[in-house]
Order: sequence, then C-alpha cells, then structure tokens
Amino acid sequence: MRIARQGETLVIDTPAKVNLFLEVLGRRDDGYHDLLTVMLAISLTDTLQFRIAAQPGVWFHQHLTTASPSQAGSPPHDDNNLVVRAARRLAEVAGLDPAVEISLWKRIPWQAGLGGGSSDAAATLVALNRLWGLQLPPADLHQLAATLGSDLNFFLAQSPLALCTSRGEIVDRQPLRRPLSLVIAQPEGGLGTADVFRRWEPTSAPRRPDQLLTWLAGDSHRNTTLGVYNALQHPAGQLHPGLKLIQQRLIRCGLQSVAMTGSGSACFGLAGSHRQAVRVARWMRGQFRHRAWAVRTWTAPNAIHHDEFASNLWS
Ligand code: C5P
Repeated sequence: MRIARQGETLVIDTPAKVNLFLEVLGRRDDGYHDLLTVMLAISLTDTLQFRIAAQPGVWFHQHLTTASPSQAGSPPHDDNNLVVRAARRLAEVAGLDPAVEISLWKRIPWQAGLGGGSSDAAATLVALNRLWGLQLPPADLHQLAATLGSDLNFFLAQSPLALCTSRGEIVDRQPLRRPLSLVIAQPEGGLGTADVFRRWEPTSAPRRPDQLLTWLAGDSHRNTTLGVYNALQHPAGQLHPGLKLIQQRLIRCGLQSVAMTGSGSACFGLAGSHRQAVRVARWMRGQFRHRAWAVRTWTAPNAIHHDEFASNLWS
C-alpha cells in the first residue's frame, strides 16, 4: 500500500495479487478449504480516498474504469461492498459511530482472482485506523481482517511475497530477490470463488512450493521458473472454457509459467523482461481483444508521503 495525506484526506494506492502457487489441501468442516499458496503483490492498483464526513454514516462512492469486465456485473455499490463492511466492522470494534466518506477508483478487475476487493478492504482498515486515531496494533487489524475474508491479511502484511496457509489468512513473508515482470490477461466474464471451490476434487499427493520459493529467493530469475501451479485451474476450466485459450495465447507469445490466479478468471505468465511483458500485453489487447496488463512486482513503501502524489488518480 502507498499512503498519502492531502490535507484532511487520506489517499491509498493498494495492489492486486497473483497466486504463483495454489494447492488445496482439503475441505474443512466450516465449509472453507485449507490452502498452501504463494502470493505476489503486483503493480495493478485501486485508489481509495478517505475523509471524515459531516453526517454520521459510511458514505461510499465507487468509480469503475472501462478496464473492468462488463460481463462479470459490477461489485456492490452499497453496504455489501467489502470496503463498507470493513469500515463498519472497525467502527464496531472501536465502539464509535462512523462518519466517513470513502471514494474508490477501481482498476483491478473483479471476479478475477486478483484480490481487488480484499485489497480495498485491507486498505480501509489501515486508513480508518489512522483517520479515526484508533492506533489498533497490527495484530488486532489482522484478527479483524480474517473475519472479513481470507485474502485481506496478505495485503495488510504489505510484503511483496508471502506463503499463506489455513484459509489463506496466515501470512508468512518470503524473500523475493528481484522484481518480476508479468502479463495479466482476463477472458470475458469472471468466476465466483465459491463456485470454483465447490467443483474442486481432492488429489492423492498435494504439491509443495519449495522449489518455487527457492527460485524466487535466488539470483537466477533468467532461468525457467519452477513450480508455478494452481489446483483450482481444472475446476475453473470446467466453468469457463475461455481460460484454456487465453493461456495457450500467453504461451504462444513466449511467456513462461503460465497459470490462472486464485479462483480465476484472470491468468498470468512470467516475462523475461518488462519490455517483453509490455509487448505481449499489447499483442493480447490488439490481436485478441483481451483485457491485458504488463505489471511488475509491487514494492511501494508503506510510509506516509504528505501532499505528494494524489494529483492524478488515473495515472
Ligand atoms: O474468504 P472469502 O470470503 O474470500 O471466500 C469466498 C468463498 O470462497 C468462501 O465463501 C468459500 O466458499 C470459498 N473459499 C474456500 N476456502 C478458502 C477460501 C475461500 O472454500 N480457503
């Protein structure tokens, strides 16, 4: 996350993620699944603004960009949006009546497996903890975040790379030796997380991300990546026939380690250089009319930068 203060307003840029590795270890009694997943924060971001409102309530304004998929509907504009739920939950925990205006400029596609909603909600917890002067320690924010969803804790941890377990909410930061360049591409239409998990079938021998983590911690990013994998790809492919085609196209464009992220429908591939990523993303957009982005690892500082960057929210 990148946080700036502009007078009375807090402005946060918050990133998307990809799951470089996702193994499902089994179904749990609470209906969730135990996961072993490697998450990487990427430079595709949403922007949020927070300021104290004159009237009591959580006043939420959402601005969608054309980069978001029309076929996947739109994220809720009302109290069901995870941002609003996060604000209300934090106020409840702190024992205060909320009076806040929140604006969200959404660039991260939804129903894409990119964690946009979770990232926005995590940013909300961080921002309102400051704006309301609550000074809740990180452990309390993490505890609250886990009640809102499984991916919020990764974004709260503000680590470019992490190994996440349990539902995904236990976050173990991992070393990343060098920044990576990737192409994200999304077919028409999104996928519902619960629908994809419901179709997952257990396998006899779960995989582990050890080789991948060693590769990410090492110097040899020019060599072939080891172990990019997603156990939800098969069930997601049954629900969305476009996944296979988009992955074939990314491979044909020369990308390595192509896979789906999270529960889809976005896919990614690793590029040998950022120049290659930009070229492939342009080709995917121009030739095949896919939504596609060239992105890097997200490594923004989490310090407050006063009055410095919020002039162009759409850059
Ligand atoms: O945690 P989150 O609200 O993002 O999860 C959305 C849905 O995805 C859950 O209701 C559940 O059906 C499924 N899920 C799961 N196991 C996980 C994470 C999510 O079954 N570890």
